[in-house]
Amino acid sequence: MDANISTTIRPGTEHDAEGLFQIHVDSVKDLCATAYSREQIKRWFEGRHAREYVEHLSHGRIWVATAAERLLGFTECWPGHIDRLFVAPWATGRGIGDRLLRFAMEQALSKGHEIIKIEATLNAEPFYGKYGFKKISNSSFVQPSGIEIETVLMEMRRPC
Ligand SMILES: CC(C)(COP(=O)(O)OP(=O)(O)OC[C@H]1O[C@@H](n2cnc3c(N)ncnc32)[C@H](O)[C@@H]1OP(=O)(O)O)[C@@H](O)C(=O)NCCC(=O)NCCS
Repeated sequence: MDANISTTIRPGTEHDAEGLFQIHVDSVKDLCATAYSREQIKRWFEGRHAREYVEHLSHGRIWVATAAERLLGFTECWPGHIDRLFVAPWATGRGIGDRLLRFAMEQALSKGHEIIKIEATLNAEPFYGKYGFKKISNSSFVQPSGIEIETVLMEMRRPC
């Protein structure tokens, strides 16, 4: 990717569904593999399809980072909450995660919300920690394949 091409953040549309799903899959395979077993990574997306994004996109909560119309990453957020944030493996280390998280935090702290909650993957805990998120508890969720994925519930309060 050309580092000189500027990154923009725009609302996701249903035309982005395939691209978002691919980034999600690639990001988990490459970037979450440090914290999860081969079995977990393999079964993370079993039975899941790009069409799950069509529904998420219809709520208007997904925002995508692009450069020259190419998808680089995305976040899903709403007042009080950040649900997910993934950057394409080939686009990491260039400030895309920073842009997306700052944007998501602004959205999450809108409409009078003072606290942001997030369920983070284990590999991303130090990333969120850099931005003031604190671990509240261990958690987990179960994928459609039946595999359990351990996570960390984190929280951030609006700075005084
Ligand atoms: C975590 C992730 C979003 C970071 O994206 P990125 O585009 O590489 O991040 P940036 O280049 O904007 O880095 C921003 C800052 O975070 C730091 N950082 C990035 N990844 C980090 C990590 N895993 N742990 C700790 N710090 C991290 C960078 O060093 C940088 O700090 P600096 O400004 O002091 O140099 C990306 O690696 C990713 O998509 N991971 C897998 C997806 C995932 O697990 N998401 C969480 C699901 S809720």
